[in-house]
Amino acid sequence: MTKLRLFFLLFLAGLSLFWALSQSRVYGIENPQLTGNPAAGKLVFHASGCAGCHRAPNSPQDDQMILAGGQKFQSPFGTFVAPNISMDPDFGIGSWTFEQFVIAVRDGVSPKGDHYYPAFPYNSYHYMTDQDIADLWAFWQSLPHSDRTNDTHDLTLIAQWRRPLGFWKMLYFPTKWQAAPTLSDVEARGHYLVQALGHCAECHTPRDIFGGLQVSEWMQGAPNPSGKGVIPAITREKLKWSADDIAAYLKSGFTPEYDVAGGKMAEVIENLAHLPNEDLNTIGVYLTSIK
Ligand code: HEC
Ligand code: HEC
Repeated sequence: MTKLRLFFLLFLAGLSLFWALSQSRVYGIENPQLTGNPAAGKLVFHASGCAGCHRAPNSPQDDQMILAGGQKFQSPFGTFVAPNISMDPDFGIGSWTFEQFVIAVRDGVSPKGDHYYPAFPYNSYHYMTDQDIADLWAFWQSLPHSDRTNDTHDLTLIAQWRRPLGFWKMLYFPTKWQAAPTLSDVEARGHYLVQALGHCAECHTPRDIFGGLQVSEWMQGAPNPSGKGVIPAITREKLKWSADDIAAYLKSGFTPEYDVAGGKMAEVIENLAHLPNEDLNTIGVYLTSIK
């Protein structure tokens, strides 16, 4: 009897520890009243490539872009489907507050307090500045509605439960990249566009078996999560392009050998091509300045 009771107590203690540790940690925002500028938000939107994943397959590319979701992403954990993040209050995120938007995009936590899967690259967006996310939300207000219902993700049994993602976050979130050496203003802007908004590492850096980014292999290239081919390395040593080559590629989609960018990179460039040339140049300068 006493043994059974002890076992039961230990079990309860273990369960509460699991529950406590796997809770959603929220960083939030210092000033939830911060207001944004929609025109600036449009640039943040293009730099972050939200449309690349959330745009409905047949939606127009312009300001009337319909973020109805539906695109599928394969991974070792199953297939994720992008949700509807249009301004529709019932089917999208139109009823959300700015603070809920911040906590979703930067902390990976839903208004109900659930963890999001890191297939949503919040690990990179975590570093988005307060002003940029306020601008992004201001831009969001002008986007059209869609009443498309969300599909459920098709995941392996173990991945279907969101709660253990709390442990994943303890290990990997937010990713601590090696301390960058002192950067010039131009390099710092490039660093921000690459690491935070452009989330380049989410594709160009390999992941370990739990799907965490391998910091030591930063931008060294990775297997394609779809199972087909590889995503190339973009470090200075391996890519061997000049800063101008990189900027031109991100604008036009042409490599220095006049090959055309393919796969997911074509979509990334579709969004990045909207950025001012100076911004694309800073990405080239940053990527070629670091070892
Ligand atoms: C690489 C693909 C990808 C990109 C890029 C992406 N998302 Fe998502 N997003 C997802 C996936 C997948 C989910 C679903 C996550 C889940 O169910 O846990 C999601 C979920 C969301 C949600 C939660 C919706 C809900 O109903 O709870 C919001 C809000 C969101 N994304 C906004 C954004 C914004 C804003 C951007 C750009 C700054 C962005 N996403 C870029 C893939 C992406
Ligand atoms: C959604 C995944 C994804 C993201 C995000 C992404 N890339 Fe790529 N990138 C790719 C793929 C796939 C290729 C290979 C394209 C091809 O086969 O033509 C590629 C190719 C490239 C190349 C050409 C390399 C070569 O050897 O031809 C460069 C340069 C590049 N990416 C830079 C970037 C930068 C800078 C960012 C961030 C602003 C970025 N990528 C974000 C998937 C991605």
